[in-house]
Amino acid sequence: MPSLSSKSARLQASPIRKLAPHARAAEARGIKVHYLNIGQPDMPTPPQMLAELRGLPLNRIAYAPSEGLPEAREAWSAFFASWGIRFAPDEILVTTGASEAITFVLAVVAGGGGEVLVFEPCYTNYLSFAAQADVTMVPVTLRVEDAYHFGSEERLRAAIGPRTKGILLCNPSNPTGTVYTEQELDAVARVAVEADLFVICDEVYREFVFDGGAVRSFTRYGDLANRIIVVDSVSKRFNACGVRIGCMATSNREVLDVALRFCQARLSVATAEQRMVIPMLREGRSYSEHLCGEYQGRRDAVYDGLSRLEGVTPHRSEGSFYTMTRLPIDSCERFAVWMLRDFEWQGETVCLAPGEGFYVTRGLGVDEVRIAFMYDAATLERAMTVLAHAVAAYPARRELAAASR
Ligand SMILES: Cc1ncc(COP(=O)(O)O)c(C=O)c1O
Repeated sequence: MPSLSSKSARLQASPIRKLAPHARAAEARGIKVHYLNIGQPDMPTPPQMLAELRGLPLNRIAYAPSEGLPEAREAWSAFFASWGIRFAPDEILVTTGASEAITFVLAVVAGGGGEVLVFEPCYTNYLSFAAQADVTMVPVTLRVEDAYHFGSEERLRAAIGPRTKGILLCNPSNPTGTVYTEQELDAVARVAVEADLFVICDEVYREFVFDGGAVRSFTRYGDLANRIIVVDSVSKRFNACGVRIGCMATSNREVLDVALRFCQARLSVATAEQRMVIPMLREGRSYSEHLCGEYQGRRDAVYDGLSRLEGVTPHRSEGSFYTMTRLPIDSCERFAVWMLRDFEWQGETVCLAPGEGFYVTRGLGVDEVRIAFMYDAATLERAMTVLAHAVAAYPARRELAAASR
């Protein structure tokens, strides 16, 4: 048999999805599983969007233009403007989710052997996007003790090498919920100019900032406009992950020209779905503001639950709809499997995303987990109680393992 490519070996199984067979088996045994592992919003897709889809006068679903339908690009431009961000429609390319946008952007700025700095823990699919684009992700490691902030720009400078082409900044962050401070964004901006780098801004959670904090889009650095490439999506802010509509936006004409060639090669983005998101892009600001309040209440439920756990380092997420936390457990992956296979409390258990898959650096994150806020606050409280019982009952807790060594 011919062997597969070296690129194939770089693609990891999603740490978020790989526990699914164990979860299904638990459900088949009649156990209620609280899914804290996946960022799939539980709330309904806005009725305006569904009504728009039903009302579309479509008798022939043709390819859309590769750059996106003109009215969809205008709607994205209006959406950005509602948050004070200026991108003209012709500075926006509609993509199949932010996922496609990130893959294209990585290929455009660093494809074929370049490097991009990323804060780890990071959105796990970045690693697969980078593998597809033949880009090396160079991590700047953040620690729960620092609330997953990087503080000094020296950390960034130290990671830059001759092949570094950009910094990928996910703000607010999946998986940590970090909202980078003004000083940190200034530091990224300074280093980008100093080292002549692009800044790829993944802002799919832009408006989910808790505790009245300011929404800090990196586009505020107007004098860096030619370096800034924003990727965005309707998935999370409009509870519409399956619609698969996102975009990339930049004022850099060269980047747009090359990215358009990638868009042309994949022909187009789904025509009806581009149309259905237009009303929400035009009027959806208040909708996502409301969601932000809801997620803050959920964050509080998770944080309070984690704070009550003995030996846990809880982290108060500042935005997005995730938190990362360290548990007093030797291997959170083994713990997550054990919870699904061997544990239940009052007929319930919890499915977590083990931390390791969110790190570029092998061996980090083994005692961390990511928790997504995809249930109402009362259900999350209950899930935290189930988790507390699991941590107490787990036979291989860290201190027990240490004592037996
Ligand atoms: C930080 C981040 N970027 C990008 C994506 C991909 O989003 P989309 O559904 O638009 O492809 C996700 C999805 O979870 C994400 O969390």
